[in-house]
Formats: sequence, structure tokens, C-alpha cells
Amino acid sequence: MTSVAIVLGSVRPGRAGEQVVRWIEEQARQVDGVATVFFDLRDYNLPLFAEEMPPSMQAPELPEAVRLRTNIEAQDAVLFVTPEYNHSVSAVLKNAIDYLPPATLKDKAVGLVGYSWYGAAKPLEHLREIVSTFGADVREQQVGINLGSDFQDGVFKPSDELNAQIRELLTSLA
Ligand SMILES: Cc1cc2nc3c(=O)[nH]c(=O)nc-3n(C[C@H](O)[C@H](O)[C@H](O)COP(=O)(O)O)c2cc1C
Repeated sequence: MTSVAIVLGSVRPGRAGEQVVRWIEEQARQVDGVATVFFDLRDYNLPLFAEEMPPSMQAPELPEAVRLRTNIEAQDAVLFVTPEYNHSVSAVLKNAIDYLPPATLKDKAVGLVGYSWYGAAKPLEHLREIVSTFGADVREQQVGINLGSDFQDGVFKPSDELNAQIRELLTSLA
């Protein structure tokens, strides 16, 4: 069984991302050999990164950063789910990633999911670049969700095509 950590880049009340995570969890139940674990950044008290040393030189010792890191390291793969904030990933997600030493994601299978009014092309591109610096094994396929066409009145209505895309990505991670 492959364990996949889901890390969502939104902590807002009423965040659209929570519907996306619930959908990923539901789709994962239909993929053989995959179990997901949602690590909600709402549950981590991570201040803006202000460690003395870069994580590449010394792993952060802040207990909440250690907790996030060990939780991610304990899983076989990671699925980052990002909203688009000002044409990029959210600050909360970037801040959490900044706390990770390179070893946490090195050679780890990583999948990317994004959502925005434009299918999250820009944050997905940025996130791919960010995660690549860790030497992660970032999957080629990614899932871009459009808040206009894939949501109706604020409710996520994934198409069959999106369902197929996320299952393919989860299968690839497995
Ligand atoms: C600070 C901020 C910046 C945003 N910038 C963009 C943007 O550049 N492009 C876009 O399509 N949507 C943008 N949005 C709209 C978000 O895509 C939308 O609010 C989405 O629901 C955010 O995800 P969340 O609800 O899970 O936090 C922005 C929203 C916020 C809060």
C-alpha cells in the first residue's frame, strides 16, 4: 500500500480547496494500493520562516516544523494541492515547503493539483519548479481545476475527465 500525504495550500475559512481534498480522498479509495493522509496546514502553527540557517544546511528545529517534516517523511509520496493566489502558489504553502530540508522530498514521488479561475496553470508551473529544487520525482501529469467550469455555485462538480486525471496521477504515485 502506498501512502500519499495530501498537503493543501489554503487555511481560509470556507476554502474551496477542502472540497478538492475530499474529492481526491474519495477518488483515491477507487485506486488500488493507495491510502491518503491529509495534513492540514491549519493544524500546524508555522510562523513565517525565520530560522537562522537555511534548511539545506540545518533542518529547522521548531517543533511544528519537525512535526510536519516527520509526517511527510513517513509517507511514500506527496500530493500538493495549491490554490492560485496572485498568479502563484499560496504563501502558506510556500512557507510550509520552505521549512522542509531537501532530504524530505528528495527522490520522493510528488503529484501536483491546482485550482483557480484559469485552471491553475501558473501556480502549477511555479510549484513544479519549487519542488524540483528538492530533487523530487515530480510526476509529469498534473491536475488543473477551473473554478468557473468545474464548480457550480461554489460546489465542486468534477467531470469524468477530472476524475480520470486524478486517478491516473494517484496510480502513477502508487
Ligand atoms: C490572495 C488571493 C489572491 C488570488 N489571486 C488569484 C489569481 O491570481 N488568479 C485566480 O484565478 N484566482 C485568484 N484568487 C481567487 C482564488 O483562486 C479563489 O478564491 C480560490 O477559492 C482560493 O482557494 P481557497 O478558497 O481554497 O483558499 C485569489 C484569491 C486570494 C485569496
